[in-house]
Amino acid sequence: MAITISIVLQKGGTGKSTTAQALASTLGFKHKKVLLIDLDPQGNVTYSSGANDPEHTIFDILGEDCGADEALIHCKYYDLLAADTRLTNIEMSESVKPILLKTTLEFIKNNYDFIIVDTPPALGNLSFNSLVASDYVVIPTEPRPFALQGLGRLNDTIQTIQNALNPSLKVLGILLIKYSNRTVLNRDIKTMIEEYAEQMQTVVFNTSIRKGIAVAEAQTVREPLIDYAKSSKPNIDYQAFTTELLQKIGE
Ligand SMILES: Nc1ncnc2c1ncn2[C@@H]1O[C@H](COP(=O)(O)OP(=O)(O)O)[C@@H](O)[C@H]1O
Ligand SMILES: [Mg+2]
Repeated sequence: MAITISIVLQKGGTGKSTTAQALASTLGFKHKKVLLIDLDPQGNVTYSSGANDPEHTIFDILGEDCGADEALIHCKYYDLLAADTRLTNIEMSESVKPILLKTTLEFIKNNYDFIIVDTPPALGNLSFNSLVASDYVVIPTEPRPFALQGLGRLNDTIQTIQNALNPSLKVLGILLIKYSNRTVLNRDIKTMIEEYAEQMQTVVFNTSIRKGIAVAEAQTVREPLIDYAKSSKPNIDYQAFTTELLQKIGE
């Protein structure tokens, strides 16, 4: 039965999609069976995975308009359930069940070791559904002064979900993206985030992801970072992060 991991933070540009794809690729590279779900209507992970106008998407599966088999896109390191602009309907709807994704995944879970879910930059129905369906959360953030505010609201939402719909949901950690330990500001903000992580009863991952142009280049040519630039700093860091993550969950 798959371990489900949500990549969540209700801000744009914090490295969610990049992390979701890099984690999925690296796990696949390590011979794990991985399903990557693009739950962001913007479809960044769908694009960078090289999928072009897929006929069926996660939206069709959630609406029971097609079976999972019809919508799966087989990529090199993982299977993809593509995003769909109509996911916005789910995000806006007032009648969406918080267990919609969880119920849908029951039928798919047995086929995978890991399900990684990329979420939109909002704490709406889609991120909520993702958290309800998950075993673990990874929170990517840039080392910026405003990072803590976002973490506070996310923590409230996670606690609500833990208290009601998903008591076993665990925040695996906060992952620092585009981090440089050479600047004092970065180091200071890391300390602040570490203190905040403690309040959230979680940690900052030992591994942080350094900046590298290879990330945007790989996304532009729609290749996995691990193939496009194996020895780039961000790829080396994502390998180490994946190892750390597997140790944490005892795999
Ligand atoms: N380690 C990194 N080094 C350089 N650029 C990065 C790195 N990680 C992400 N980016 C870039 O930052 C932008 C935001 O990343 P993305 O993963 O799309 O964030 P989110 O999904 O949270 O909006 C993208 O343009 C991406 O190419
Ligand atoms: Mg994104």
